[in-house]
Amino acid sequence: VDDETVQYNKEFEDLLSSLPKERSLVTSYKYQYQGFWYSPPLLQGVINCQKHFKPRENDIFIVTAPKSGTTWMKAILYALINREAHPPQTLHHPLLNKAPRDLVPFLEFLSPSEYDSVCNSPDRRMRIFATHIPVVNLPKSITASLSNCRVVYMCRDIKDNFVSLFHFANKANLRPSPVSLEDAFNSYCKGVSAAGPVWDQVLGYWIESQKKPQKVLFMRYEEMKVEPKLQLRRLANFLGMPFSLEEENSGLVDQIISLCSFESMTKVDVNKTGNFVDGFTNSSFFRKGLVGDWKNCLTADMAAKLDQITEEKFRGSGLYL
Ligand code: A3P
Repeated sequence: VDDETVQYNKEFEDLLSSLPKERSLVTSYKYQYQGFWYSPPLLQGVINCQKHFKPRENDIFIVTAPKSGTTWMKAILYALINREAHPPQTLHHPLLNKAPRDLVPFLEFLSPSEYDSVCNSPDRRMRIFATHIPVVNLPKSITASLSNCRVVYMCRDIKDNFVSLFHFANKANLRPSPVSLEDAFNSYCKGVSAAGPVWDQVLGYWIESQKKPQKVLFMRYEEMKVEPKLQLRRLANFLGMPFSLEEENSGLVDQIISLCSFESMTKVDVNKTGNFVDGFTNSSFFRKGLVGDWKNCLTADMAAKLDQITEEKFRGSGLYL
């Protein structure tokens, strides 16, 4: 994923050498492009999308900052949209045989020739993608047609997001040596994380969700944990696929929540053993799945500093995390 020996084409190498560069917490280096930090493979994917991606009517994009519950949301959305073709209680449900990343791919990790082969909804005119790309860096083809595409943005408490990322960085075998909590913290606070600064990425989608509530749904990891039924119904309504009375009475909402719960997903073989891409195993996308785990990792000063940055960045926006 971050092999310094990977050869890119000359145009991309020239671009990289013209960009600000910083050591980062997961991969070796990140480059600042249009205000956000990317590893070279991620940046290559972003540029590919910007140049070549053509959205279809009804495409759905799950957008997150890394470690905000992307995998969970992929499962939920997939199960929700495919509930007729794949009832959540069937023994052969795709989520019991495939990792969420195989059912809902990351847009920026696909090559342009793969965009069109994504086929993960009952409606051929609708595809589900996940992405970490900030709204300003999304392909213009998507933002220009937000009237047709829909975005589900999932955010997470910043302190939990950082702690999850820190553990992930050390689980993934991408750096020459483990990263210390202090170094990881400093990078994160400077905004040097994938598609970071995380605050700017969240804020961009928050503003978009306020401007276009029918097109951008802003969700929170913590609310999904506390009131999953309410949030799942909210999601279904937003996508124009509300649960019918019959579905409600049959317990379908609970069944989807249960299929996608941390407990169920971590029992699925492929999520325990499979490989995501070099350096990342599927299991590295599951750790504790809790709210407030930052208390077990951050010092009081670190927590206060993240709170302070969050407060400053979001002041006046109406967004609280
Ligand atoms: P923790 O490291 O705090 O446990 P992402 O999918 O964006 O990479 O996010 C990973 C985080 O989401 C990890 O958080 C992971 O444990 C958690 N997660 C994964 N699946 C989940 C699920 N089904 N329910 C709740 N949290 C989940």
